[in-house]
Amino acid sequence: MEFVDLRSDTVTKPTPEMREAMAEAEVGDDVYMDDPTINALQEKAAEMLGKEDALFVPSGTMGNLLALLVHCQRGDEVIVGDKSHIYLNEAGGMSALGGIHPRPLQNQADGTLLLDEIRASIQTEDVHHTITRLICLENTQNVCGGVVLPAEYLQAVGKIAQENGLAFHIDGARIFNAAAALNISVKDLVAPADSVMFCLSKGLVAPVGSMLVGGRKFINRARHLRKMVGGGMRQAGVLAAAGMISLEKMSTRLGQDHARAKKLFEGLQQVRGLKLDAFGPSSTNMVYFDLADEVKLSVNQVVEEMKKHGVLVDWAGPRRFRLVTHYWVDDAGVEKTLQALGAVLK
Ligand SMILES: Cc1ncc(COP(=O)(O)O)c(C=O)c1O
Repeated sequence: MEFVDLRSDTVTKPTPEMREAMAEAEVGDDVYMDDPTINALQEKAAEMLGKEDALFVPSGTMGNLLALLVHCQRGDEVIVGDKSHIYLNEAGGMSALGGIHPRPLQNQADGTLLLDEIRASIQTEDVHHTITRLICLENTQNVCGGVVLPAEYLQAVGKIAQENGLAFHIDGARIFNAAAALNISVKDLVAPADSVMFCLSKGLVAPVGSMLVGGRKFINRARHLRKMVGGGMRQAGVLAAAGMISLEKMSTRLGQDHARAKKLFEGLQQVRGLKLDAFGPSSTNMVYFDLADEVKLSVNQVVEEMKKHGVLVDWAGPRRFRLVTHYWVDDAGVEKTLQALGAVLK
């Protein structure tokens, strides 16, 4: 059976064009910085995000970890969202590997952290306190529904960082989705940040890899730390070749995924047994909903029943689901999903 796979945008397999580019990629030893395809990808990423330099890393988690390790010393504090991937879903890497202390602030429903709370949480100089070094934001904010943090908000946070001598990092795993939804360049969107991580292997469809971008000194140190944590790859130009297609071609088509997510959300309004988020679709590629109280099936049972109808979905909470549209989900896939959910919850 051909499955429609809405579990995540991480499930995207490389396109035939990517596979061809991978087969033909010129490669070299990237630890010697000798891989021309990786070098070109890094240059392209830095240029697109308007930063001095970039580093190819195996995963988004490693990219975020390197950023934290460069910006902070052991015992330093980082302001993060309490629903952020860095805080919840990176195996506590900042604490375990960096001795870095998280200061979680509540993510509001729109994905932001309140500016006053950020200001109030910056530690004063006191022998009892940690030293605040860094503010991290996530854009799009996944757990809040794939919501977009607007450019003005990022500027306001950047200003707070600057006024207080702090660094500002964006976990932009889906920053190209955010920029597409806002209809602005990713460069303008991330201008207030010192560093950004974004993923090639999500909506941008590459099989592996993320990019860390920032100043030249920052990236040099991140390269050193990447080696330390075992992320120095060799002829990884075969992966970067797919990533180049992500940047050149996939970054401009994300509006299609967003339109399909909207269509999915609208269709779900007609399906009985669902509670949709009152604020509507996220404007990017994610649709969250809950099972209504009268539905007797558990989330696991819904997952299994949907599989029988050829649709893969994943639960996001005891009664909650997240569906993610991407390159391999077309209009027919959206339709098939709506039919299947209607049948399973009838
Ligand atoms: C917001 C966010 N940040 C970071 C990551 C980490 O990326 P990776 O799975 O490549 O480590 C993810 C992965 O899903 C994510 O959703």
